[in-house]
Order: sequence, then C-alpha cells, then structure tokens
Amino acid sequence: MSILLAASILSADFSRLGEQIQALEQGGVDWLHIDVMDGHFVPNLSFGPFLLPVVKKHTSLPLDVHLMMENPDGLIPAFIAAGADILTVHVETCPHLYRTLQTIRASGCQAGAALNPATPLESLREVVHLLDVVLILGNNPGFSGQGWFPEMAAKIKRAARFLTEHGSSAILQVDGGMTCQTLPEAYQAGARAFVSGSAIFNSSGGIAHGIQSLRAAVQTAA
Ligand code: DX5
Ligand code: ZN
Repeated sequence: MSILLAASILSADFSRLGEQIQALEQGGVDWLHIDVMDGHFVPNLSFGPFLLPVVKKHTSLPLDVHLMMENPDGLIPAFIAAGADILTVHVETCPHLYRTLQTIRASGCQAGAALNPATPLESLREVVHLLDVVLILGNNPGFSGQGWFPEMAAKIKRAARFLTEHGSSAILQVDGGMTCQTLPEAYQAGARAFVSGSAIFNSSGGIAHGIQSLRAAVQTAA
C-alpha cells in the first residue's frame, strides 16, 4: 500500500526548523508541504516565498506549496523562482484558473487545484487535463490541528471517480485533519496522497514515530 505523505511545516517548531526538516526526511516523508496564508482568503498569516530557499538548504525533498491566498497569480513567478516543485492554487481565488494552471505547468512545476469543503468538484471539469494534483480540503483551511469533516469521505470517492472518468492520472491529495483514524478512511475513499501537520509534529513518540504511525494505520486498514 503505497501512499504519498507530505508533512506540513506549519506545525514545526521554527526555533529548530532545520533539525525538524532533517527528521522529516529521515523519517521518510515524501514531500514537504508549505502552507501559504494571506490573512484574507483564510483567517491566518504564514509565509511568503522567502521560506522555500531556507527549507531547501536542509532537504532535497520536493516542496509542495499550497497557496491559500487571494490573487495568487502575481506571486506565482516568485514561488517558482524560490523552488516550488508542486504549486497548488485554490479554485475559489482563481477567476482565470485555466491560465493560472497553464502558467504553472509552463514553468516546469507540477500544478494542483484545491477545493474547500463547500466547493464542488464540478469546478474542475474544464481544467482536469491541466492538473497534476487535486487537493481536497478536509476542513476549513487556516489552522493545523482541527478535525476533519466526515462528509469529505464521500467527496473523495466522487473525486476519485471523476478523475477516472476523465482519464486523469492526477494525484488525489487530502489536507486537513489527517490522523491515524481519519487517514485510512480517506485512503479507502480513494485518496493516495496526504498532508499531515499535527499528527506528525505532535506525535508523543516524535516525528519519525508520527510518520510511521500514519503509514502503519493505512496498512492495517487496507
Ligand atoms: C491549514 C493547512 C493544512 C494544515 C494541516 O488548513 O492547509 O496543511 O497545516 O494540519 P493538520 O494535519 O494538523 O490538520
Ligand atoms: Zn495545506
């Protein structure tokens, strides 16, 4: 059962960021997830492009950048220049989503589209061929450590079917509220990539233990 696990560094201890990034890599995460928040689209502020080269100093893992911001188009070139490998925008903030995804792909980056819990899959229909990643939010974005909305399992199932029906090989990723209990549910619904913040960083046994526990939970449930 192979899953793709991305650790959200929003939950890291920033006084020991380098050390924690190395622990994530040694613990076996696949991607590092960088949550960019603007204080408008989501009620929290986090980082800008400056953080990517800082993270890259400590790891060769791909950087999975999740842009939770209004008007992302203006900053996309800066995130690409800063070293993003996967750049995911929210459909709710992209009136010209087709162009935005084209711009990301033309740069050599992988392109993702994220859907808030209330946003229907239908909004991806005309751009599905431009997607490398479809990101389903498990809760209202903005903060780590929230639970997930159980209704999202049905949405993930529909998303998996939607991608198959459209002949898409986009990765189906879930972000928000992933724990040893909820991640297997999302897996069984059809997701194959998962973002985790608090379940990894707040694990009582440490970062590597948090990663192993999430992977083991999927094995047990599958
Ligand atoms: C905020 C972010 C998530 C968050 C996940 O909504 O998009 O990536 O950091 O954190 P957990 O895994 O704690 O829900
Ligand atoms: Zn995220």
